[in-house]
Amino acid sequence: MSKSTSHSPSRESFASQFGLVMAAVGSAVGLGNIWRFSYILGVNGGGAFLLVYVLCVLLVGTPILISELTLGRASGLGVVGAFRKLAPGRSWVFVGAIGVIASTVIMAYYPVVAGWSLGYVFESIFNWTAVTADSAVAFTAFSAGWKAFLFSAAALVLTAVILIGGVSSGIERWNKILMPLLGAILLVLTLRSVTLPGAFEGVRFLFYPDFSKLSITGVLDALGHSFYSLSLGMGIMITYASYMKKDANLVSATISIITMDTSIALLAGLAIFPAVFALGFDPGQGAGLAFITLPGAFAMMPLGQIFSALFFLLLFIAALTSMMSLMQVPLTFLEDELNMPKKKGLLIITVVIAALGTPAALSFGPLADFKILGLDYFSLLDKTANDILLPITGLLGALFVIFSFGVATSKKEFLEGSKNPNAFLVKIYPFSIKFIAPVAIVLILLNATGIFGR
Ligand code: PHE
Repeated sequence: MSKSTSHSPSRESFASQFGLVMAAVGSAVGLGNIWRFSYILGVNGGGAFLLVYVLCVLLVGTPILISELTLGRASGLGVVGAFRKLAPGRSWVFVGAIGVIASTVIMAYYPVVAGWSLGYVFESIFNWTAVTADSAVAFTAFSAGWKAFLFSAAALVLTAVILIGGVSSGIERWNKILMPLLGAILLVLTLRSVTLPGAFEGVRFLFYPDFSKLSITGVLDALGHSFYSLSLGMGIMITYASYMKKDANLVSATISIITMDTSIALLAGLAIFPAVFALGFDPGQGAGLAFITLPGAFAMMPLGQIFSALFFLLLFIAALTSMMSLMQVPLTFLEDELNMPKKKGLLIITVVIAALGTPAALSFGPLADFKILGLDYFSLLDKTANDILLPITGLLGALFVIFSFGVATSKKEFLEGSKNPNAFLVKIYPFSIKFIAPVAIVLILLNATGIFGR
Protein backbone atom coordinates (compact mmCIF):
# COMPACT_ATOMS: atom_id res chain seq x y z
CA MET A 1 0.00 0.00 0.00
CA SER A 2 1.51 3.32 -0.90
CA LYS A 3 1.66 5.84 1.88
CA SER A 4 1.75 9.53 1.18
CA THR A 5 4.01 11.76 3.27
CA SER A 6 4.52 15.49 3.58
CA HIS A 7 7.27 15.14 1.04
CA SER A 8 5.03 13.45 -1.43
CA PRO A 9 3.82 15.86 -4.05
CA SER A 10 0.36 14.34 -3.87
CA ARG A 11 -0.43 15.33 -0.27
CA GLU A 12 -2.44 18.50 0.03
CA SER A 13 -1.13 21.35 2.13
CA PHE A 14 -2.17 24.63 3.65
CA ALA A 15 -1.42 27.31 1.10
CA SER A 16 -0.40 30.07 3.49
CA GLN A 17 0.85 30.66 7.01
CA PHE A 18 -2.19 32.85 7.69
CA GLY A 19 -4.48 30.06 6.51
CA LEU A 20 -2.93 27.41 8.71
CA VAL A 21 -2.99 29.71 11.72
CA MET A 22 -6.67 30.52 11.11
CA ALA A 23 -7.47 26.81 10.80
CA ALA A 24 -5.68 25.93 14.04
CA VAL A 25 -7.19 28.90 15.87
CA GLY A 26 -10.57 27.96 14.40
CA SER A 27 -10.20 24.54 15.95
CA ALA A 28 -9.06 25.85 19.31
CA VAL A 29 -11.72 28.52 19.56
CA GLY A 30 -14.89 26.58 20.22
CA LEU A 31 -17.86 26.41 22.50
CA GLY A 32 -15.43 26.09 25.40
CA ASN A 33 -14.04 29.57 24.77
CA ILE A 34 -17.34 31.28 24.44
CA TRP A 35 -19.20 30.22 27.50
CA ARG A 36 -17.19 27.79 29.59
CA PHE A 37 -13.98 29.73 30.06
CA SER A 38 -15.48 33.00 31.20
CA TYR A 39 -17.78 31.14 33.54
CA ILE A 40 -15.06 29.16 35.30
CA LEU A 41 -12.98 32.33 35.37
CA GLY A 42 -15.72 34.18 37.22
CA VAL A 43 -16.48 31.52 39.81
CA ASN A 44 -12.85 30.74 40.55
CA GLY A 45 -11.71 34.15 41.57
CA GLY A 46 -11.34 36.10 38.32
CA GLY A 47 -7.85 37.55 37.93
CA ALA A 48 -6.42 34.93 40.27
CA PHE A 49 -7.69 32.15 38.03
CA LEU A 50 -6.54 33.99 34.92
CA LEU A 51 -2.99 34.03 36.20
CA VAL A 52 -3.08 30.29 36.88
CA TYR A 53 -4.72 29.62 33.52
CA VAL A 54 -2.04 31.52 31.60
CA LEU A 55 0.63 29.53 33.42
CA CYS A 56 -1.17 26.29 32.53
CA VAL A 57 -1.33 27.31 28.89
CA LEU A 58 2.36 28.17 28.81
CA LEU A 59 3.71 25.26 30.84
CA VAL A 60 1.33 22.43 29.96
CA GLY A 61 -0.82 23.24 26.94
CA THR A 62 1.98 24.74 24.87
CA PRO A 63 4.50 21.88 25.17
CA ILE A 64 1.81 19.35 24.23
CA LEU A 65 0.73 21.57 21.34
CA ILE A 66 4.34 21.77 20.16
CA SER A 67 4.80 18.03 20.38
CA GLU A 68 1.60 17.38 18.43
CA LEU A 69 2.55 19.88 15.74
CA THR A 70 6.00 18.39 15.33
CA LEU A 71 4.75 14.78 15.25
CA GLY A 72 2.34 15.73 12.51
CA ARG A 73 4.73 17.66 10.36
CA ALA A 74 7.66 15.28 10.83
CA SER A 75 5.59 12.29 9.74
CA GLY A 76 3.39 14.04 7.20
CA LEU A 77 0.63 11.68 8.28
CA GLY A 78 -2.52 11.76 10.39
CA VAL A 79 -2.59 10.65 14.00
CA VAL A 80 -2.41 6.89 13.43
CA GLY A 81 0.09 7.18 10.58
CA ALA A 82 2.30 9.50 12.60
CA PHE A 83 2.81 6.96 15.37
CA ARG A 84 3.13 4.11 12.88
CA LYS A 85 5.75 5.88 10.82
CA LEU A 86 7.77 7.43 13.62
CA ALA A 87 7.88 4.21 15.69
CA PRO A 88 7.61 1.36 13.19
CA GLY A 89 6.57 -1.99 14.56
CA ARG A 90 5.82 -0.70 18.03
CA SER A 91 2.52 -0.56 19.82
CA TRP A 92 2.50 3.26 19.99
CA VAL A 93 0.13 3.21 17.07
CA PHE A 94 -2.64 2.53 19.58
CA VAL A 95 -2.21 6.04 20.88
CA GLY A 96 -3.15 7.27 17.44
CA ALA A 97 -6.13 4.95 17.39
CA ILE A 98 -7.38 6.43 20.66
CA GLY A 99 -7.03 9.87 19.09
CA VAL A 100 -9.26 8.85 16.18
CA ILE A 101 -11.80 7.36 18.57
CA ALA A 102 -11.74 10.47 20.79
CA SER A 103 -12.37 12.86 17.93
CA THR A 104 -15.15 10.68 16.55
CA VAL A 105 -16.83 10.46 19.95
CA ILE A 106 -16.68 14.24 20.41
CA MET A 107 -17.96 14.73 16.89
CA ALA A 108 -20.98 12.64 17.84
CA TYR A 109 -22.25 15.22 20.31
CA TYR A 110 -20.64 18.54 19.32
CA PRO A 111 -23.06 19.04 16.38
CA VAL A 112 -25.93 18.89 18.85
CA VAL A 113 -24.84 22.12 20.52
CA ALA A 114 -23.76 23.55 17.17
CA GLY A 115 -27.29 22.80 15.95
CA TRP A 116 -28.84 24.62 18.90
CA SER A 117 -26.65 27.62 18.13
CA LEU A 118 -27.63 27.67 14.49
CA GLY A 119 -31.26 27.12 15.43
CA TYR A 120 -31.12 30.04 17.83
CA VAL A 121 -29.90 32.36 15.09
CA PHE A 122 -33.23 31.68 13.38
CA GLU A 123 -35.26 31.62 16.59
CA SER A 124 -33.85 35.07 17.43
CA ILE A 125 -34.90 36.40 14.06
CA PHE A 126 -38.28 34.71 13.54
CA ASN A 127 -39.47 33.60 16.93
CA TRP A 128 -38.15 36.24 19.30
CA THR A 129 -41.29 36.83 21.34
CA ALA A 130 -41.69 33.15 22.09
CA VAL A 131 -38.00 32.69 22.95
CA THR A 132 -37.95 35.55 25.39
CA ALA A 133 -41.38 35.17 27.00
CA ASP A 134 -39.79 32.51 29.21
CA SER A 135 -36.36 31.66 27.93
CA ALA A 136 -35.97 28.55 30.10
CA VAL A 137 -39.24 27.03 28.94
CA ALA A 138 -38.48 28.00 25.35
CA PHE A 139 -35.07 26.35 25.40
CA THR A 140 -36.31 23.17 27.02
CA ALA A 141 -38.97 22.86 24.36
CA PHE A 142 -36.56 23.76 21.55
CA SER A 143 -33.83 21.28 22.54
CA ALA A 144 -36.39 18.49 22.88
CA GLY A 145 -38.00 19.16 19.51
CA TRP A 146 -37.55 18.23 15.88
CA LYS A 147 -36.12 21.62 14.89
CA ALA A 148 -33.09 21.13 17.13
CA PHE A 149 -32.62 17.69 15.64
CA LEU A 150 -32.72 18.98 12.07
CA PHE A 151 -30.33 21.85 12.81
CA SER A 152 -27.86 19.39 14.37
CA ALA A 153 -28.07 17.17 11.33
CA ALA A 154 -27.53 20.26 9.16
CA ALA A 155 -24.43 21.19 11.19
CA LEU A 156 -22.98 17.73 10.64
CA VAL A 157 -23.71 17.69 6.93
CA LEU A 158 -22.36 21.22 6.44
CA THR A 159 -19.09 20.22 8.09
CA ALA A 160 -18.79 17.21 5.79
CA VAL A 161 -19.55 19.34 2.73
CA ILE A 162 -16.82 21.83 3.64
CA LEU A 163 -14.33 18.98 4.06
CA ILE A 164 -15.06 17.70 0.55
CA GLY A 165 -13.18 20.78 -0.65
CA GLY A 166 -10.02 19.44 0.99
CA VAL A 167 -7.52 21.08 3.29
CA SER A 168 -6.70 24.13 1.25
CA SER A 169 -9.93 24.87 -0.62
CA GLY A 170 -12.18 23.60 2.15
CA ILE A 171 -10.79 23.99 5.67
CA GLU A 172 -8.32 26.76 4.98
CA ARG A 173 -10.60 28.81 2.78
CA TRP A 174 -13.53 28.68 5.18
CA ASN A 175 -11.45 29.43 8.25
CA LYS A 176 -9.91 32.43 6.50
CA ILE A 177 -13.41 33.84 6.09
CA LEU A 178 -15.09 32.63 9.26
CA MET A 179 -12.43 33.45 11.85
CA PRO A 180 -12.11 37.17 10.97
CA LEU A 181 -15.93 37.29 10.90
CA LEU A 182 -16.01 35.71 14.35
CA GLY A 183 -13.52 38.33 15.57
CA ALA A 184 -15.62 41.17 14.15
CA ILE A 185 -18.88 39.90 15.69
CA LEU A 186 -17.16 39.41 19.00
CA LEU A 187 -15.89 43.00 18.99
CA VAL A 188 -19.36 44.37 18.28
CA LEU A 189 -20.86 42.30 21.11
CA THR A 190 -18.09 43.24 23.52
CA LEU A 191 -18.49 46.94 22.81
CA ARG A 192 -22.24 46.67 23.33
CA SER A 193 -21.85 44.77 26.58
CA VAL A 194 -19.21 46.90 28.28
CA THR A 195 -21.00 50.16 27.47
CA LEU A 196 -24.23 49.16 29.21
CA PRO A 197 -24.85 51.11 32.40
CA GLY A 198 -23.78 48.93 35.33
CA ALA A 199 -21.44 46.84 33.19
CA PHE A 200 -18.53 47.34 35.53
CA GLU A 201 -19.81 44.72 37.99
CA GLY A 202 -19.32 42.11 35.28
CA VAL A 203 -15.83 43.30 34.46
CA ARG A 204 -15.05 43.06 38.15
CA PHE A 205 -16.49 39.52 38.34
CA LEU A 206 -14.17 38.50 35.53
CA PHE A 207 -10.95 40.16 36.53
CA TYR A 208 -10.85 41.10 40.20
CA PRO A 209 -8.21 38.73 41.61
CA ASP A 210 -9.80 37.03 44.58
CA PHE A 211 -7.34 34.38 45.68
CA SER A 212 -9.66 33.18 48.42
CA LYS A 213 -12.01 31.79 45.74
CA LEU A 214 -9.26 29.82 44.05
CA SER A 215 -9.34 26.22 45.28
CA ILE A 216 -7.24 23.24 44.32
CA THR A 217 -10.03 22.02 42.06
CA GLY A 218 -10.10 25.51 40.50
CA VAL A 219 -6.43 25.14 39.63
CA LEU A 220 -7.05 21.69 38.20
CA ASP A 221 -9.97 23.02 36.19
CA ALA A 222 -7.64 25.62 34.74
CA LEU A 223 -5.27 22.84 33.81
CA GLY A 224 -7.94 20.70 32.21
CA HIS A 225 -9.44 23.64 30.38
CA SER A 226 -6.09 24.77 28.93
CA PHE A 227 -5.79 21.32 27.45
CA TYR A 228 -9.31 21.15 26.05
CA SER A 229 -9.29 24.70 24.82
CA LEU A 230 -6.23 24.15 22.66
CA SER A 231 -7.89 21.05 21.09
CA LEU A 232 -5.19 18.73 22.38
CA GLY A 233 -5.19 14.99 22.89
CA MET A 234 -7.45 14.09 19.99
CA GLY A 235 -4.98 14.11 17.15
CA ILE A 236 -6.27 17.37 15.69
CA MET A 237 -3.03 19.28 15.80
CA ILE A 238 -1.10 16.24 14.55
CA THR A 239 -3.52 15.94 11.66
CA TYR A 240 -3.49 19.64 10.77
CA ALA A 241 0.31 19.81 11.03
CA SER A 242 0.64 16.91 8.64
CA TYR A 243 -0.63 19.32 5.98
CA MET A 244 1.89 22.02 6.86
CA LYS A 245 4.84 22.56 4.60
CA LYS A 246 8.40 22.45 5.86
CA ASP A 247 8.70 26.21 5.53
CA ALA A 248 5.63 26.86 7.69
CA ASN A 249 6.72 28.72 10.80
CA LEU A 250 5.55 26.53 13.67
CA VAL A 251 6.98 28.80 16.36
CA SER A 252 5.01 31.82 15.31
CA ALA A 253 1.96 29.66 14.62
CA THR A 254 2.14 28.32 18.18
CA ILE A 255 2.43 31.83 19.60
CA SER A 256 -0.59 32.95 17.54
CA ILE A 257 -2.68 29.93 18.53
CA ILE A 258 -2.16 30.33 22.26
CA THR A 259 -2.55 34.11 22.32
CA MET A 260 -5.63 34.15 20.11
CA ASP A 261 -7.29 31.27 21.91
CA THR A 262 -6.88 32.98 25.27
CA SER A 263 -7.72 36.48 24.07
CA ILE A 264 -10.88 35.32 22.32
CA ALA A 265 -11.95 33.55 25.50
CA LEU A 266 -11.37 36.78 27.45
CA LEU A 267 -13.21 38.89 24.88
CA ALA A 268 -16.12 36.45 25.03
CA GLY A 269 -16.15 36.90 28.79
CA LEU A 270 -16.32 40.66 28.25
CA ALA A 271 -19.14 40.22 25.76
CA ILE A 272 -21.17 38.13 28.19
CA PHE A 273 -20.65 39.02 31.84
CA PRO A 274 -20.93 42.81 31.84
CA ALA A 275 -24.28 42.42 30.07
CA VAL A 276 -25.42 39.66 32.42
CA PHE A 277 -24.59 41.79 35.47
CA ALA A 278 -25.81 45.08 34.04
CA LEU A 279 -29.19 43.56 33.35
CA GLY A 280 -29.39 41.84 36.70
CA PHE A 281 -29.08 38.16 35.78
CA ASP A 282 -27.43 35.26 37.58
CA PRO A 283 -23.99 34.54 36.08
CA GLY A 284 -23.73 31.00 37.44
CA GLN A 285 -25.89 29.07 35.00
CA GLY A 286 -23.28 26.91 33.27
CA ALA A 287 -24.50 25.68 29.90
CA GLY A 288 -27.84 27.36 30.49
CA LEU A 289 -26.01 30.67 30.46
CA ALA A 290 -25.81 30.79 26.67
CA PHE A 291 -29.24 29.53 25.75
CA ILE A 292 -31.36 30.66 28.67
CA THR A 293 -29.77 33.59 30.53
CA LEU A 294 -28.47 35.44 27.49
CA PRO A 295 -31.68 35.54 25.43
CA GLY A 296 -33.35 36.89 28.57
CA ALA A 297 -30.68 39.56 28.90
CA PHE A 298 -30.73 40.46 25.20
CA ALA A 299 -34.48 40.93 25.41
CA MET A 300 -33.89 43.82 27.79
CA MET A 301 -31.58 45.86 25.59
CA PRO A 302 -32.42 47.98 22.56
CA LEU A 303 -31.93 45.99 19.35
CA GLY A 304 -31.49 42.95 21.56
CA GLN A 305 -32.91 40.68 18.89
CA ILE A 306 -30.10 41.59 16.53
CA PHE A 307 -27.44 41.15 19.20
CA SER A 308 -28.94 37.80 20.06
CA ALA A 309 -28.83 36.59 16.44
CA LEU A 310 -25.22 37.80 16.22
CA PHE A 311 -24.27 36.04 19.43
CA PHE A 312 -25.65 32.69 18.29
CA LEU A 313 -24.03 33.13 14.90
CA LEU A 314 -20.75 33.65 16.74
CA LEU A 315 -21.34 30.48 18.74
CA PHE A 316 -22.19 28.56 15.59
CA ILE A 317 -19.05 29.74 13.76
CA ALA A 318 -16.92 28.80 16.75
CA ALA A 319 -18.48 25.33 16.74
CA LEU A 320 -18.32 24.87 12.97
CA THR A 321 -14.61 25.61 12.67
CA SER A 322 -13.94 23.20 15.56
CA MET A 323 -16.06 20.49 13.94
CA MET A 324 -14.06 20.79 10.72
CA SER A 325 -10.92 19.87 12.66
CA LEU A 326 -12.63 17.08 14.57
CA MET A 327 -13.98 15.43 11.47
CA GLN A 328 -10.73 15.77 9.58
CA VAL A 329 -9.02 13.42 12.09
CA PRO A 330 -10.91 10.24 11.14
CA LEU A 331 -10.98 11.40 7.52
CA THR A 332 -7.21 11.70 7.31
CA PHE A 333 -6.97 8.31 8.98
CA LEU A 334 -9.09 6.67 6.28
CA GLU A 335 -7.25 8.51 3.52
CA ASP A 336 -3.73 7.83 4.84
CA GLU A 337 -4.09 4.35 6.22
CA LEU A 338 -6.71 2.78 3.95
CA ASN A 339 -6.08 4.87 0.85
CA MET A 340 -9.76 5.67 0.77
CA PRO A 341 -11.00 8.39 -1.59
CA LYS A 342 -12.10 11.52 0.26
CA LYS A 343 -15.78 11.39 -0.65
CA LYS A 344 -16.18 7.78 0.29
CA GLY A 345 -14.37 8.39 3.58
CA LEU A 346 -16.58 11.37 4.37
CA LEU A 347 -19.70 9.41 3.60
CA ILE A 348 -18.68 6.59 5.93
CA ILE A 349 -17.71 9.00 8.72
CA THR A 350 -20.93 10.98 8.39
CA VAL A 351 -22.99 7.82 8.64
CA VAL A 352 -21.04 6.55 11.65
CA ILE A 353 -21.27 9.90 13.41
CA ALA A 354 -24.97 10.22 12.64
CA ALA A 355 -25.54 6.76 14.12
CA LEU A 356 -23.48 7.50 17.23
CA GLY A 357 -24.83 11.01 17.54
CA THR A 358 -28.55 10.54 17.05
CA PRO A 359 -29.10 9.33 20.63
CA ALA A 360 -27.08 12.36 21.79
CA ALA A 361 -29.41 14.69 19.92
CA LEU A 362 -32.37 12.87 21.43
CA SER A 363 -30.94 13.04 24.96
CA PHE A 364 -32.83 16.25 25.57
CA GLY A 365 -36.12 14.91 24.27
CA PRO A 366 -37.34 11.34 23.81
CA LEU A 367 -34.25 9.79 25.42
CA ALA A 368 -34.08 12.13 28.41
CA ASP A 369 -34.71 9.30 30.85
CA PHE A 370 -32.32 6.87 29.23
CA LYS A 371 -29.33 6.67 31.59
CA ILE A 372 -26.09 4.73 31.44
CA LEU A 373 -24.00 4.79 34.64
CA GLY A 374 -26.30 7.51 35.87
CA LEU A 375 -25.55 9.77 32.90
CA ASP A 376 -27.68 10.62 29.90
CA TYR A 377 -26.12 9.52 26.61
CA PHE A 378 -24.94 13.04 25.67
CA SER A 379 -23.09 13.51 28.96
CA LEU A 380 -21.69 10.01 28.74
CA LEU A 381 -20.00 10.78 25.40
CA ASP A 382 -18.79 14.13 26.71
CA LYS A 383 -17.29 12.61 29.87
CA THR A 384 -15.74 9.62 28.14
CA ALA A 385 -13.97 11.85 25.67
CA ASN A 386 -12.96 14.76 27.85
CA ASP A 387 -12.22 13.10 31.14
CA ILE A 388 -10.68 9.89 29.90
CA LEU A 389 -9.68 9.71 26.23
CA LEU A 390 -8.16 13.20 25.82
CA PRO A 391 -5.86 13.15 28.86
CA ILE A 392 -4.78 9.59 28.04
CA THR A 393 -3.84 10.43 24.44
CA GLY A 394 -2.17 13.64 25.61
CA LEU A 395 -0.14 11.83 28.24
CA LEU A 396 0.89 8.96 25.98
CA GLY A 397 1.71 11.44 23.22
CA ALA A 398 4.03 13.32 25.58
CA LEU A 399 5.65 10.05 26.71
CA PHE A 400 6.10 9.11 23.07
CA VAL A 401 7.97 12.33 22.38
CA ILE A 402 10.11 11.89 25.48
CA PHE A 403 11.00 8.21 25.10
CA SER A 404 10.69 7.38 21.43
CA PHE A 405 10.63 10.34 19.04
CA GLY A 406 13.02 12.38 21.15
CA VAL A 407 12.60 15.86 22.56
CA ALA A 408 15.63 17.08 20.61
CA THR A 409 14.19 15.78 17.32
CA SER A 410 10.88 17.39 18.13
CA LYS A 411 12.57 20.70 18.92
CA LYS A 412 14.53 20.54 15.69
CA GLU A 413 11.34 19.96 13.71
CA PHE A 414 9.68 22.80 15.61
CA LEU A 415 12.43 25.20 14.54
CA GLU A 416 12.46 24.20 10.91
CA GLY A 417 10.97 27.06 8.93
CA SER A 418 11.06 29.32 11.96
CA LYS A 419 12.84 32.61 12.32
CA ASN A 420 12.58 32.82 16.07
CA PRO A 421 14.76 30.11 17.62
CA ASN A 422 15.21 32.13 20.79
CA ALA A 423 11.56 32.49 21.66
CA PHE A 424 10.76 31.77 25.31
CA LEU A 425 8.51 28.90 24.25
CA VAL A 426 11.35 27.19 22.45
CA LYS A 427 13.69 27.62 25.40
CA ILE A 428 11.36 26.08 27.97
CA TYR A 429 9.99 23.35 25.71
CA PRO A 430 12.44 20.54 26.64
CA PHE A 431 11.89 21.17 30.34
CA SER A 432 8.15 21.65 30.21
CA ILE A 433 7.44 18.59 28.06
CA LYS A 434 9.62 16.30 30.17
CA PHE A 435 8.90 17.45 33.68
CA ILE A 436 5.75 19.54 33.84
CA ALA A 437 3.29 18.31 31.21
CA PRO A 438 3.20 14.59 32.11
CA VAL A 439 2.69 15.28 35.82
CA ALA A 440 0.05 17.87 35.08
CA ILE A 441 -1.91 15.52 32.83
CA VAL A 442 -1.89 12.81 35.47
CA LEU A 443 -3.41 15.41 37.80
CA ILE A 444 -6.09 16.22 35.19
CA LEU A 445 -6.96 12.52 35.01
CA LEU A 446 -7.11 12.22 38.78
CA ASN A 447 -9.22 15.36 39.05
CA ALA A 448 -11.78 13.80 36.72
CA THR A 449 -12.22 10.92 39.15
CA GLY A 450 -13.38 13.43 41.74
CA ILE A 451 -10.78 12.53 44.37
CA PHE A 452 -9.92 16.19 44.90
CA GLY A 453 -13.56 16.97 45.58
CA ARG A 454 -15.98 19.01 43.51
N1 PHE B 1 -11.10 23.69 21.67
C1 PHE B 1 -12.51 23.69 21.58
C2 PHE B 1 -13.14 24.63 22.59
O1 PHE B 1 -12.48 25.33 23.30
C3 PHE B 1 -13.11 22.40 21.86
C4 PHE B 1 -12.83 21.35 20.96
C5 PHE B 1 -12.79 20.15 21.48
C6 PHE B 1 -12.61 21.56 19.63
C7 PHE B 1 -12.51 19.14 20.69
C8 PHE B 1 -12.31 20.56 18.85
C9 PHE B 1 -12.25 19.36 19.39
O2 PHE B 1 -14.34 24.65 22.68
